[in-house]
Amino acid sequence: MSPDSARRLTIAPSLLAADFARLRDEVAAIEAAGADWLHLDIMDGHFVPNISFGPAILKSLRPHTGLPFDVHLMIEPVDPYVAAFAEAGANHLLLHPEAGPHLHRSLQLIRSHGLKAGVVLNPATPIETVAWALDLVDIILVMTVNPGFGGQAFLPSQLPKIAALRRMIDAADHPIALAVDGGIAPATAPLAIAAGADTLVAGTAVFGAPDYAAAITSLRGRPAHAGPGNGSTSSGPTGTGLDSTGQGGGG
Ligand code: DX5
Ligand code: ZN
Repeated sequence: MSPDSARRLTIAPSLLAADFARLRDEVAAIEAAGADWLHLDIMDGHFVPNISFGPAILKSLRPHTGLPFDVHLMIEPVDPYVAAFAEAGANHLLLHPEAGPHLHRSLQLIRSHGLKAGVVLNPATPIETVAWALDLVDIILVMTVNPGFGGQAFLPSQLPKIAALRRMIDAADHPIALAVDGGIAPATAPLAIAAGADTLVAGTAVFGAPDYAAAITSLRGRPAHAGPGNGSTSSGPTGTGLDSTGQGGGG
């Protein structure tokens, strides 16, 4: 892989950090600011110790944006809700292996609705969990915090895991996005990118910033005030392999 690959990063702002009283405006603003996907964190107060929102919110927002809905399910169980999220307009459904007994079957179910399927690895979850279901996977999301809350500190312990997943993905026979989620900010994004991530989920660093477009540009590594080294710290991103609609091939 050539250093500083020209492949564009995918930026997926997390709606969890948006102003919930103005969701329609927030979604329009983040699309105008250059986001690639909209990341939606679904929490049930059971799988994670927090409650966010469900498919009704997706359905309400769906007519107001063309951004792919990248839906991170922090719920247990998953299977009974797949149809509802598909009908609400999800494009990608990502689940945690710990949320049910049959990861492979859940991925088949998600794919059967015509959606991209993703697996989310908690900080202590090994990459081997996904290895034998790779043929059904379009996205692997590495949690760089424990799931449940925005605004937590990035866990550098996950960097070797990202690198190992990059090797696994490069050996796969179809495109798989390698995403990171949790504590991603201008200071931590280059670490994740250098380890091999091609997709950045960020809540606080984008929706908590005064200028969403500038925040997204900073995550891409090209801040307006870039000094030496900025924008050239990435050594291994290869792009997500998914097209601009987030649908991609290989389904
Ligand atoms: C945490 C969620 C994240 C969260 C990230 O459980 O999965 O998507 O929104 O928030 P920040 O970017 O603030 O760490
Ligand atoms: Zn998330």
